[in-house]
Amino acid sequence: MCGIFAFLNYNVARERRYILEVLFNGLRRLEYRGYDSSGIAIDADLRSPVTIDKGEGNDGGEEASRLPYNSAPPLVFRQEGKIESLVRSVYSEVDAMDLNLEKSFSVHAGIAHTRWATHGVPSPRNSHPQSSGACNEFLVVHNGIITNYEVLKETLIRHGFTFESETDTEVIPKLAKFVFDKARDEEGEQTVTFSQVVTEVMRQLEGAYALIFKSAHYPNELIACKRGSTLILGVKELSDDKNSGKLFHDVKALTKDEKPKELFFSSDLCAIVEHTKNYLAIEDNEVVHIKDGCVSILKFDYGREKPASVQRALSVLEMEVEQIKKGNYDHFMQKEIHEQPHSLTTTMRGRLKDNSVVLGGLKDHLKTIRHSRRIIFIGCGTSYNAALAARPFLEELSGIPVTMELASDLLDRQGPIYREDTAVFVSQSGETADTLLALEYALGNGALCVGVTNTVGSTLARRTHCGVHINAGCEIGVASTKAYTSQIVVMAMMALAIGADKISTQARREAIINGLSDLPKKVSEVLKLDGEMRDLAKSLIDTQSLLVFGRGYNYATALEGALKVKEVALMHSEGMLAGEMKHGPLALVDETLPIIVIATHDACFSKQQSVIQQLHARKGRLIVMCSEGDATSVCPMGSCRVIEVPQVADCLQPVINIIPMQLLAYHLTVLRGYDVDQPRNLAKSVTTE
Ligand code: AGP
Repeated sequence: MCGIFAFLNYNVARERRYILEVLFNGLRRLEYRGYDSSGIAIDADLRSPVTIDKGEGNDGGEEASRLPYNSAPPLVFRQEGKIESLVRSVYSEVDAMDLNLEKSFSVHAGIAHTRWATHGVPSPRNSHPQSSGACNEFLVVHNGIITNYEVLKETLIRHGFTFESETDTEVIPKLAKFVFDKARDEEGEQTVTFSQVVTEVMRQLEGAYALIFKSAHYPNELIACKRGSTLILGVKELSDDKNSGKLFHDVKALTKDEKPKELFFSSDLCAIVEHTKNYLAIEDNEVVHIKDGCVSILKFDYGREKPASVQRALSVLEMEVEQIKKGNYDHFMQKEIHEQPHSLTTTMRGRLKDNSVVLGGLKDHLKTIRHSRRIIFIGCGTSYNAALAARPFLEELSGIPVTMELASDLLDRQGPIYREDTAVFVSQSGETADTLLALEYALGNGALCVGVTNTVGSTLARRTHCGVHINAGCEIGVASTKAYTSQIVVMAMMALAIGADKISTQARREAIINGLSDLPKKVSEVLKLDGEMRDLAKSLIDTQSLLVFGRGYNYATALEGALKVKEVALMHSEGMLAGEMKHGPLALVDETLPIIVIATHDACFSKQQSVIQQLHARKGRLIVMCSEGDATSVCPMGSCRVIEVPQVADCLQPVINIIPMQLLAYHLTVLRGYDVDQPRNLAKSVTTE
């Protein structure tokens, strides 16, 4: 649930100030992953007395004398709060220690971290980089969880280590120092390489992690490794003369190369794209070592004594820098809401052909899916809601029972999954821990596992048998908006592909395919409600609570609309199935509690009309969302507020209907003065159970 980043410049002079700014900027791009504290490590000046004594108070001087002659203890800065508070504190600390920001380094390795606390409260002490102890001989930034850290900690304490933080991460740099010291004591100086230290550390770790190591014993080198969490290597070669970008196509090319270059490690592509488009998605159990401008990759294997060397090709990133910038918008959530006509177009690009749907990632498995006894949708939060929106259409077109599972609940119950099932895993990030654990569970039970994700190279994409990328583009706001609508569209296309063998539904399928082509235009129309939703938000600014009633295709809209309001506007809101109204929720209805009823035109319309009447009879404070032209039939004497939206095919209507709710949540948040893109206590991808 954290963001990790590293920057190494090789054979190209970079001033300390420049290096700091690259690290800070990397963290800004990753801040959405966690934003309660952050930290960086950079090089000090050689054997600076300031750094040797810094904060250690014990054997710092003695430990420093064990460092190589060309090394000095790295400087570590950590701060609670958002990235900007780290930036301020770093500049004031370097000022106080009189560190020269204009000093130039032809080679330098810096690491950085932004945190979403799991073990220990947000504080400088618990922030990363975590250290091996005096003189920061080994420093580590970590995304993930070390599950056996307590055992490791006890062992290390018995060997004389003292711990300063409450984190699980701190065992890693201390273990690295333990391994290093042991090898050096047994075999003497220069006998153990950085990658030998790291692979030995990996051998001891259990859990899911992406790690970047920096060490005073191996100056100007970096090592990154991972098991579970995503980690990317970015490579930017600089020509000798103009420092302009030039393409690498193979990591092999980097193994004997003194050309100037900049190398990056990052938790995701967002922090890399502004530097380079050449990247490598590091795979599980790979140890990527940067030394002397070369990149070498070892594949760690538990069974084997020695990891094997592997060669990987770089990929070229298909993402534009604009995607990670706000442009003319005030917030990422606002930008992402408004770019939905475009993101939906991208989601459908090349997939609708001659009245049929072509999903390359699924075509070889359609037969198996059609023969499934059951299709199970599995996800969390917004991704679950998107699947719920798609469920009726998939049931209708496939004729197969479709059940819904919240990933955590499935795991808690260890619910039955069989070989004859198709399990569809939906996750924007592809890294949500509960969803991934449910995936392992379903794989273990022999089900066909299908992935629906926005993140190429994510664990979900790699671990499922087949799947479809939603191609919504980078979503940075913690509140998922454009990914939700793209997920629904992908699942609608899946339903069309699965049901394509049935003559009886051909006309229906063709109508939906036409509807899909038209959808981006309709989304542009509904976005014109922005001002109206801002006015509605003004009228709701002081209310304590909001209910949203939906049914059929729009039960999901009620859940998702309420989720948006609660997660960013920090207002209690609940989405409810309108059919359940009389079985409890009706007791809440009075003149003050605002209730949004989704009553767009579909097979449930008359039932929703009756819900509206019953709420009226109890003097409910109603806001009705209806299809254009239906205002008078849902709200006879202008007795309630009406939101009119464009009418589209019933199964696509949730894509339209959620947009006013997204706009409402956005404006409520701004008006209530809360953080839109980084809501309290949340982070974009939830990589812990
Ligand atoms: C949505 O706004 C939330 N950020 C959250 O519910 C999210 O959808 C959930 O955590 C699942 O994430 P995923 O799609 O990346 O798996």
